[in-house]
Amino acid sequence: MAETELTLRPLESSHLSAAVALDHLCLGGWWGEQSYRNELDRDSSDLIGLFAHPTTQSLASDSLAPPDLLGLGCQWLILDEAHIILLMVHPHYRSQGLGLRVLLGLLTQAHQRGAACATLEVRASNAIARQLYGKLGFQGVGQRPHYYQNPDEDALILWCRGLQRPAFGQQLRAWQAASQQRLGQGGWHLPTPEFGTPPLAGGITHPKYLAVACPAPKHPRRIK
Ligand SMILES: CC(C)(COP(=O)(O)OP(=O)(O)OC[C@H]1O[C@@H](n2cnc3c(N)ncnc32)[C@H](O)[C@@H]1OP(=O)(O)O)[C@@H](O)C(=O)NCCC(=O)NCCS
Repeated sequence: MAETELTLRPLESSHLSAAVALDHLCLGGWWGEQSYRNELDRDSSDLIGLFAHPTTQSLASDSLAPPDLLGLGCQWLILDEAHIILLMVHPHYRSQGLGLRVLLGLLTQAHQRGAACATLEVRASNAIARQLYGKLGFQGVGQRPHYYQNPDEDALILWCRGLQRPAFGQQLRAWQAASQQRLGQGGWHLPTPEFGTPPLAGGITHPKYLAVACPAPKHPRRIK
């Protein structure tokens, strides 16, 4: 089976139209280009994409080459909390472990930037996302009644704590190894996990991620 190379890295302005197209497919057009652009230069925001780079071999054999941007994740670092705002995978490429890999990338970033915990809201009916979050240690702590509209629905509030405990680093590496294996079985290859020494080598390399502290937010919370 021909392998398709993946990279997980920060979005750049050249990716904005692909991000908006993916958002449209996955979330029905939640954020427009300006909203994505706002995240790019914000130090307190991590906006990462999972990109596919078809090999010459796979391009020759597949009539339908994968799109470049397969998945997206965004989080805001607020004090010592990582607030996960967006997570999506192209509908044609779901249930292959890509969503988990993007979430793992966000958690890795949160860990490396000094966050003590990560949190998010999810529709109560979104069983797939709830399962995914549960796999990486998120637990429900409460609900926000009527948080979502169209359709009206409660949000579940999930938290993942202990990101700065030594054991969490080991846990991240174990999840990454399992994810590498799963992706490999599906014909995906993500060369270097974003873990190692120096911590940002090989994966997420944007200079803004060299910051260790969690800066205070520069804008109010928006609701997904
Ligand atoms: C949620 C989403 C990102 C998951 O992406 P994905 O690439 O399909 O997820 P993965 O393949 O990594 O799956 C991770 C886990 O989710 C669960 N899952 C994934 N697809 C599933 C399916 N079709 N049925 C049931 N569970 C499923 C499983 O527990 C899976 O783990 P497993 O593969 O070990 O069984 C994707 O469905 C999506 O973009 N949905 C629309 C946007 C959205 O709802 N985002 C979350 C908002 S809070």
